Amino acid sequence: MQVISTRAELQAWSDAERAAGRRVALVPTMGALHAGHLSLVETARAHADQVVVSIFVNPTQFNDPKDFEGYPRVMEDDLAACRAAGVDVVWTPQVEELYPDGAPVWVDVEEISEPLCGQNRPGHFRGVTTVVTKLFLAARPHVAVFGQKDWQQLAVIRRMTEALGFGIEILGGETVRESDGLALSSRNVHLGPVGRKQALRISESLSLAQQRIDDGERSHAVLCEAVIKKLGEATQARVDYAEFRDPTTLELAGENLQGPTLLAIALQFDADPDGQGAEVRLIDNRVLAVR
Ligand code: PAJ
Repeated sequence: MQVISTRAELQAWSDAERAAGRRVALVPTMGALHAGHLSLVETARAHADQVVVSIFVNPTQFNDPKDFEGYPRVMEDDLAACRAAGVDVVWTPQVEELYPDGAPVWVDVEEISEPLCGQNRPGHFRGVTTVVTKLFLAARPHVAVFGQKDWQQLAVIRRMTEALGFGIEILGGETVRESDGLALSSRNVHLGPVGRKQALRISESLSLAQQRIDDGERSHAVLCEAVIKKLGEATQARVDYAEFRDPTTLELAGENLQGPTLLAIALQFDADPDGQGAEVRLIDNRVLAVR
């Protein structure tokens, strides 16, 4: 496994691979790798000859500088995980190279970035689309893999890739979960024991919505109420959003659900009352089958 730090070196490597007729896949990450990230590596491997993982904690997508500073940085563990997963190249760019001094340049995808996580995290998706553009231009992949757990991110990147004509195939990897249903996230470690138990209400409410639909319920309002009630059982958390939307355009679902519908949820947890854990914002989603 090669570890590359500069953009020029990565571009030269990728150009050589392309010239030799080999397909290159990119898996962008911010490190602190877990089984969810590694499942994206597996998907990448199935669609390409060479797999590149980028590890870069992107400052421009954090709203809170404390969140950026506190983001876990465990490069040695990440490199070991990549090696074990058979990654070919790890790219570890420096902030100064991706964001040189001078007037900043942004890639901003309007509309689809605005609801859901765009509401409470102004500028977040602009940071994501800007850095992903830089990662794409450096790695020049044929295919890039993103997790469905961050469904809106995936939808925004698909829109950007199409609109800017990158010519990169975007794949969405399924969400990897703990055995009890909690979606894997590098933020889960910040939950105290009470928060950890209550966090299960998220995946439970996704299943509940599907169950109610399978039982014949189609009313947007009724389903929304059922989900909010279930999430309300997490007394240590505040519902940031719980919304039914079109999986591709992210437009709000109509009065009665029709066809596949995204249920997207974000919950903001307080620290446990006894001071264990910290504030954590968790997101999850499911595309509900509506027949
Ligand atoms: P990060 O949070 O490190 O996530 C990297 C990739 O892993 C994303 O595509 C995310 O959707 C995926 N992922 C996270 N948890 C997952 C899980 N439980 N199952 C499957 N996939 C999961 O998302 C980012 O980084 C950044 O915004 C990035 C795209 C790298 C741009 O900076």
